[in-house]
Amino acid sequence: MASVNDLIDQALQFKCNPKSAQYEYNKALNTFYEVIQILFESLKQINEQNEIQKTKTLISHLLNQAEQCKSQLNPIKSSSDPISQIFHHPIIDIQIPQYISSSPQVKINKQTQNEPIEKSKKSNPSDDPLEAMIETEILDTSQSMKWEDISGLANAKAMLHEAVILPSQYPNIFTGIRAPPKGILLFGPPGTGKTLLAKALASQSSACFFSISASSLTSKFYGEAEKLVRALFTVAKRKQPSVVFIDEVDSILSSRGQGEHEASRRVKTEFLVQMDGVRGAGDDRVILIAATNRPQELDEAVIRRFPKRVYIDLPNEDTREDLIKHQLSKVSNNLSESNIKTIVQQTRLYSGSDLAALCKEAAMEPLRKATNEDLKKGIIQEMSFESFRIALNVIRPSVSPSSLEFYTEWNSQFGSK
Ligand SMILES: Nc1ncnc2c1ncn2[C@@H]1O[C@H](COP(=O)(O)OP(=O)(O)OP(=O)(O)O)[C@@H](O)[C@H]1O
Ligand SMILES: [Mg+2]
Repeated sequence: MASVNDLIDQALQFKCNPKSAQYEYNKALNTFYEVIQILFESLKQINEQNEIQKTKTLISHLLNQAEQCKSQLNPIKSSSDPISQIFHHPIIDIQIPQYISSSPQVKINKQTQNEPIEKSKKSNPSDDPLEAMIETEILDTSQSMKWEDISGLANAKAMLHEAVILPSQYPNIFTGIRAPPKGILLFGPPGTGKTLLAKALASQSSACFFSISASSLTSKFYGEAEKLVRALFTVAKRKQPSVVFIDEVDSILSSRGQGEHEASRRVKTEFLVQMDGVRGAGDDRVILIAATNRPQELDEAVIRRFPKRVYIDLPNEDTREDLIKHQLSKVSNNLSESNIKTIVQQTRLYSGSDLAALCKEAAMEPLRKATNEDLKKGIIQEMSFESFRIALNVIRPSVSPSSLEFYTEWNSQFGSK
């Protein structure tokens, strides 16, 4: 018996072919019914919001494919009701994305004889289900975020501005030897703002932003992840200028050792091939950005593909001060300048995320002192230096001096000066 994944694969590979016999369509339609039913059932057992969304997207895509399949059947034999009505399911309010709901036949007709194929390929979204998935899942259209929301990291911001934002605004200037680098690696201790930088970049730049992480590659519905990787780069090229951001790149592209899983080896190889495609094509305006806190685990072939490697260090004194002040601006407090300076001195090895946690902990202190009566009346003491003194014992730095030494060493060996 075919496994669920096989069935899903089979359904995803369905393409309308006017030459196919009625029998073929009937068979395909049955597969669709079966797979959609299974997916609806699985929805009941999934708790994670992200997984629910992925499954819904897949269902809506399959429903639409099934509808196209049905339209090829003899109209006398098949009913004219939409297929979605067969599934009396409470979660049938799924929005079918616009590009999915236009049938391939319509698209083929739209390609008029005088329109060059290349152009129409560019402007029309894809029929390929994996590419369609990428357009809904990996294409990041997330919340707006500004550079100012990130404290410090002036060098990294300036570099990203020059390599991504300016070239997408003035493509004619950034050509030839002025062309931006094709790969940027952000590395450094955990919690220093690498992912944050990419998020800000996504909302600041007009380039199309694709965000991929190990988890988006391991979804059980995707089948072979390397196909997804290939599709990702195809869509990125079609929508250029674009940025492909690979977060936690070490978990996807770590050194290819012995005994590693065949599937992950294939994904890695596909990535390397696709990255070369991006690097080699002079005119393609696709830039790769990757982030990692374990640069030592990267395959050397991967390191080579990111010519710019930027060290995202722990925050220095000025950055720590800025970060703490930024957090304090959200809560009523009575800390003086010199109080803040003292905290800055005492947080030498704290990362940005440690500092955010410290401020959060300190902000909780006055709440712990409040009685129920106080809380009801909304009487809460101001945050004070004392709150921080207590919080400093609870929230400790998460980066050790020895690991910091290691990053500095890796930076002096591989990092961009
Ligand atoms: N420079 C910074 N400015 C403001 N907030 C920061 C900064 N660095 C870290 N933070 C805080 O730390 C949190 C985690 O940051 P982020 O996810 O970017 O870290 P990261 O470098 O990607 O870490 P990891 O390597 O573990 O993925 C942010 O949500 C933010 O609250
Ligand atoms: Mg991160």
